[in-house]
Amino acid sequence: MNFYLIFFSCFIVRSSFSSEVRYDNYKLLNVTPSTLQAVEALRELERSASLGFDFWSHTGPVGQPVEIMVSPDRADELQDIVKRREMSSAMIIDNVQKLIDAERSPRTQKGFGWTRYNTLDEINNWIKSLPEQYPSIVSLIELNGTYEGRPIVGVKVSYGSSKDKKSVFVESNIHAREWISSATTTYILNEILTSTNSSVRKLAEEHIWYFFPVVNPDGFVYSQTRDRMWRKTRVRYSRFCVGADPNRNWDYSWNVRGASSDNPCSELYRGPKPFSEPCTKTLSEFIKTVGSELVAYISFHSFAQVLLIPYGHTPQHLDNYDLTYDIGLKAVEVLAQRYGTRYRVGTIYDIMYIAAGGSIEWVKGIFKTPLVYTYELRDKGRYGFLLPPQQIIPTCEETFDSFVAIFQEYYKAIKS
Ligand SMILES: *[C@@H]1O[C@H](CO)[C@@H](O)[C@H](O)[C@H]1NC(C)=O
Ligand SMILES: *[C@@H]1O[C@H](CO)[C@@H](O)[C@H](O)[C@H]1NC(C)=O
Ligand SMILES: [Zn+2]
Repeated sequence: MNFYLIFFSCFIVRSSFSSEVRYDNYKLLNVTPSTLQAVEALRELERSASLGFDFWSHTGPVGQPVEIMVSPDRADELQDIVKRREMSSAMIIDNVQKLIDAERSPRTQKGFGWTRYNTLDEINNWIKSLPEQYPSIVSLIELNGTYEGRPIVGVKVSYGSSKDKKSVFVESNIHAREWISSATTTYILNEILTSTNSSVRKLAEEHIWYFFPVVNPDGFVYSQTRDRMWRKTRVRYSRFCVGADPNRNWDYSWNVRGASSDNPCSELYRGPKPFSEPCTKTLSEFIKTVGSELVAYISFHSFAQVLLIPYGHTPQHLDNYDLTYDIGLKAVEVLAQRYGTRYRVGTIYDIMYIAAGGSIEWVKGIFKTPLVYTYELRDKGRYGFLLPPQQIIPTCEETFDSFVAIFQEYYKAIKS
């Protein structure tokens, strides 16, 4: 009798370990601090990395809303803080699990595409099929490896002679849960290869392209199989805390005060040293081999609907701030034309929050690449990371419109 009981309970524990994290009745709240003290209180809550609170966006200045997911047992606590500390709040999602379930079904489409979110295998198999379809144009690049031993899979696209051509580097899904980012960059890659529009063909054929749609594959797989809200890498740092934020881990402005966290349990953990994460180390080694040829480096994240310019660690503007800002304004104007989606433009520091050790800081800082941008794609918090699959294609289309515009505006500007 006892034997069976013990056997049975072991079974339950084991199976709960291997199952997925659930978010039943987790709430997403939009919290707006209205004083400096309120901002400080939110910062502290974010820094404390307490169980039950997950910041979907980061604390910025007074008046900037922050999306916070809270577990049902701590929802009252958050409401208390809001009441005591001069903040206003609104409930956006009352049951996060419902959206996770909705995002998954129905899986009608077979194979790779843009009507639902793809698995890492589906993405990588599609990427690996490209050199066969475009033998003299696409070559596969498999970088060794992540903490869990996965390759980082990308491609180089080059039409004809590469003499005198500038290169463009595109990177996404460094944050695991931001699935729309790799959906968008695979779409852009597909357009570069298949579009028959003459201005797209010109853009495609006059550059060398590097696309790395999933640069944090360990985290991405974990977000798809174990915990939909996973953001970081999967390097184990303490008994309870896993992962560093791979976009606070690059060796430029790393560890600037207040711009990342030294707490391994934090979602903003910068890692024990620059490039401590195998995925950022590997990717940066590759970027070094092409960095001096780049005309553009564009990274994709979600969500916020902003087009960001370096830097995030300092209020100082770049040498070519005015140019990149003006191009950015034109690009988001073009983006809005198709579906009316509104983006803001500015430096990370000016329009978001202080952040350091990101990939675009490093690229801009080291190589002085002329065009360096980060897209924070749809939406502004209604669904956050759980952007419904029906919005994938519209997001891809409008983003691609603006992506093309960035280059058109740039070449117009430097010719005049
Ligand atoms: C990856 O590792 C394999 C085997 O160790 C090696 O043959 C290959 O050249 C490496 N690739 C890169 C891009 O470093
Ligand atoms: C071709 O692409 C450009 C740039 O995205 C766009 O402005 C133009 O309308 C497109 N032309 C056609 C015929 O679709
Ligand atoms: Zn991100």
